[in-house]
Amino acid sequence: MHKSVLLEECINNLNLSDNNIAVDCTLGYAGHSSEILKRIPNGHLYAFDQDLEAIASSSDRLSKIAENYTIINSNFVNLKEELNKLNVKEVDCILYDLGVSSPQLDEEERGFSFHKDARLDMRMNQNQELDAYYVVNEYDKEALIRILRDYGEEKYAVSIANGIIKNRPIETTLQLVEVIKENVPFSYRNDKHPARKTFQAIRIEVNDELNVFEKSLYQALDLIKVGGRVEVITFHSLEDKICKRIFNEVSTLPSELKKLPLVPVELQPKYKVVGNITPNDKELDINNRARSAKLRIIERIG
Ligand SMILES: C[S@@+](CC[C@H](N)C(=O)[O-])C[C@H]1O[C@@H](n2cnc3c(N)ncnc32)[C@H](O)[C@@H]1O
Repeated sequence: MHKSVLLEECINNLNLSDNNIAVDCTLGYAGHSSEILKRIPNGHLYAFDQDLEAIASSSDRLSKIAENYTIINSNFVNLKEELNKLNVKEVDCILYDLGVSSPQLDEEERGFSFHKDARLDMRMNQNQELDAYYVVNEYDKEALIRILRDYGEEKYAVSIANGIIKNRPIETTLQLVEVIKENVPFSYRNDKHPARKTFQAIRIEVNDELNVFEKSLYQALDLIKVGGRVEVITFHSLEDKICKRIFNEVSTLPSELKKLPLVPVELQPKYKVVGNITPNDKELDINNRARSAKLRIIERIG
């Protein structure tokens, strides 16, 4: 089962009213969506996910609460386009709870986990062509090094990439784990799992996670009404850096304007950062996934 992260903090800070139009970009198992739906009996919830299994199980859960919701089976990079099709031009709040859900990680055959043996897959959208098998077995050495460094911050990127190329074809997750173990120093196994960063990097590449998030977040900021909020829960520094950079960019004056004695209203920032929250000890005790989570909140003020 998926335990939603920062649930209370997220819901409280959305400032929901009963007629709000809300968007959950990462429906998952509807933990956040359910709580939103309960609070907007006269509004509407639009919820995105690209994973059909998540959608099937959430439809069931949401339908027991109310009928005023629409599930959109699409990548959230299509946020504006999909909402436009439904004639939705502006909304009161938008939430991202990034990454994969516990069921995606736990279901062996999805190939996300370095603890379970499965064909290398890691696709959130099962209809997509690019999968982890292709990345691991077809990418050239430079491309592998680039993704291990850029998406995994893996200091042994070169030796792992060499190991992968030498051991091809690599069919399964646990075969890949063995190759990684053989190509990092023994001491690297002591702290966290030695395959953690490589798996993160391949997953980000397969799902193009950082690019789609960046593109979608700009759309979200555009869609939000004055007084409305965008919330983002990140789970690693790469996605958090993107969120922090974009939030800073839209909430601060460009340096050339800072020198002006008076900044015209139309050039002043349209957004204000209102929060940056991490899970409390109680949540950390019961939910391992919360360890690296961070919730960033921004409000449209103009
Ligand atoms: C961490 S889970 C969300 C869990 C949810 N908030 C809950 O409480 O049950 C992330 C979900 O977002 C989906 N997802 C991730 N990136 C996506 C994207 N670019 N477009 C659409 N869905 C995405 C995943 O398939 C997964 O189901």
